[in-house]
Amino acid sequence: MEIREVAVVGLGTMGAGIAEVFARAGISVVAIEADPDALRQGLGTLDASLSKAVSRGRLAASEQAEIRARVRPAAAFSEAAAVDLAIEVVPERMEIKRQVFAELDRVCGPEAILATNTSSLSVTSVAACTRHPGRVVGMHFFNPAPVMRLVEVVSTVLSDAAVPAAVTELARRLGKVPVGVDDRAGFVANALLLPYLNHAVDLLEIGYSSAADIDRAATEGIGLPMGPLALLDLIGLDTSLSILDVLHAEFGQPRYCPTPLLRRLVTAGRTGRKAGRGFYAYADGKIVGVGAAAGETADVAAPDTVTLIGRGDEHEAEFASALASAGLSVTRNPAHPTDLVVIVAAEGQPILPAALAAGRGDQAVGVNFPGGVRDARLAELIRTSLTTDTAMAAAGALARRLGVPVVHAPDRPGFLVGALLYPHLADAVRMAQHGYASAADIDTAMTLGCGYPRGPFQLIGDIGAANVVAGLQAMHMAYGYPAFVPPPLLAEHAAAGIDFAVAGRTPAR
Ligand code: 3HC
Repeated sequence: MEIREVAVVGLGTMGAGIAEVFARAGISVVAIEADPDALRQGLGTLDASLSKAVSRGRLAASEQAEIRARVRPAAAFSEAAAVDLAIEVVPERMEIKRQVFAELDRVCGPEAILATNTSSLSVTSVAACTRHPGRVVGMHFFNPAPVMRLVEVVSTVLSDAAVPAAVTELARRLGKVPVGVDDRAGFVANALLLPYLNHAVDLLEIGYSSAADIDRAATEGIGLPMGPLALLDLIGLDTSLSILDVLHAEFGQPRYCPTPLLRRLVTAGRTGRKAGRGFYAYADGKIVGVGAAAGETADVAAPDTVTLIGRGDEHEAEFASALASAGLSVTRNPAHPTDLVVIVAAEGQPILPAALAAGRGDQAVGVNFPGGVRDARLAELIRTSLTTDTAMAAAGALARRLGVPVVHAPDRPGFLVGALLYPHLADAVRMAQHGYASAADIDTAMTLGCGYPRGPFQLIGDIGAANVVAGLQAMHMAYGYPAFVPPPLLAEHAAAGIDFAVAGRTPAR
């Protein structure tokens, strides 16, 4: 099946990006959008993306003109009569998808492939309402489509084998990495990503942390390219809500149940970047008015004297030496009248007992370095119910003096980075355990589809399965949520002291 011309139906941000990807690969595109305003806006998105590539020296001006000439705007489905493949990129509502497929089924030749870019809806349901269900597949791109390398190729029980094979080949021609997946809600990447994003909104809604801190914990604490709230704004809060609704209807677990805040923002029209406002406000596509992250606002002087309380391990020694290098006077004696009591936190354990033992709970702040003290990219500043605002501000000033960005976290298991990450890793393991996808495919999906520098299973290897289990157990003890129970497969790897990435062994489920 040679694919020379395609139709892209729906020219929103994603549709415009997909049209660009095809045109850049030398394929002619009929860009179908019935609404003239939406068509104008979609072509504007395409032009802006190409112009940015030219201005960054990634594309020659002549190539820009050639790519643009390959895209033929159209208002009617009849223009798709001669295409080899049509892909719909319309809103995530089954009735709209079915209407589009009915039209494509009518106008396209019998050999044409009909693809859906649905994020989570059943491809089988879409296929079943067409005259030739064997030619219907999912071809799922990731936002921004010109940048993200993953394409999930979704087969159904009705698909003719040659069709997913042709789409897989096409994805390679586009410079993407195709991964074949079954037709299950959310496929692989969204089924894993969305509950993590949802959890981040929940942490914001319950006042666990600020938006800036939650996003900073993900970027600096985990190393992800974007924080979860900024990513929701990029994907679109309405799209994210639709995906969660589908996942929740399918799997019924509380982790998929959309947080009320997400639903309220969608109701209010604050759907993210495309609306100029979501969790953040946007001007010219850039975040404005974020609000300061923890420790950035206070114009409090850094303390000169610190009481350091730890467990006498290497973390404490490294931290003490960093404090001394920054010119601070450090004592281990809580009875000395210092400016601040700093407790070197141990993951999974509250700092409150040490704060009480010091007898200066109001001045005690916990500090946790998710990636270790040396070359720290982030410090979590942990407060108990006794810690005063003045002590938190002093700890923020101290971190500034050390040159380490901070986030604030309550004295709860996982603090902030772990609270975001551990349940996400548990979801990934559960996915492998339930035979949804292999550990290697899950890592590929998250690195190429969502820009993770390390996939979830690689992250488990970095942190240590036993540490992840301990973090989850502490969270489960504190909150009782089933999603925090360490999955048996993870517990087994922790107990056996083995890595998921060991070649030549198929993990049990
Ligand atoms: N369109 C086209 N190109 C874009 C772009 C856009 N919207 N945004 C960024 N780019 C390009 C830039 O031009 C730049 O290209 P260059 O290297 O050739 O000059 C490159 O991407 C890097 O961009 P920036 O330097 O401006 O910014 P960053 O380095 O911060 O990268 C990012 C931006 C690629 C968006 C990165 O933050 C990232 O990977 N984020 C994660 C995105 C993600 O998770 N996507 C998946 C969401 S789930 C999904 O889409 C599924 C759906 O069903 C919901």
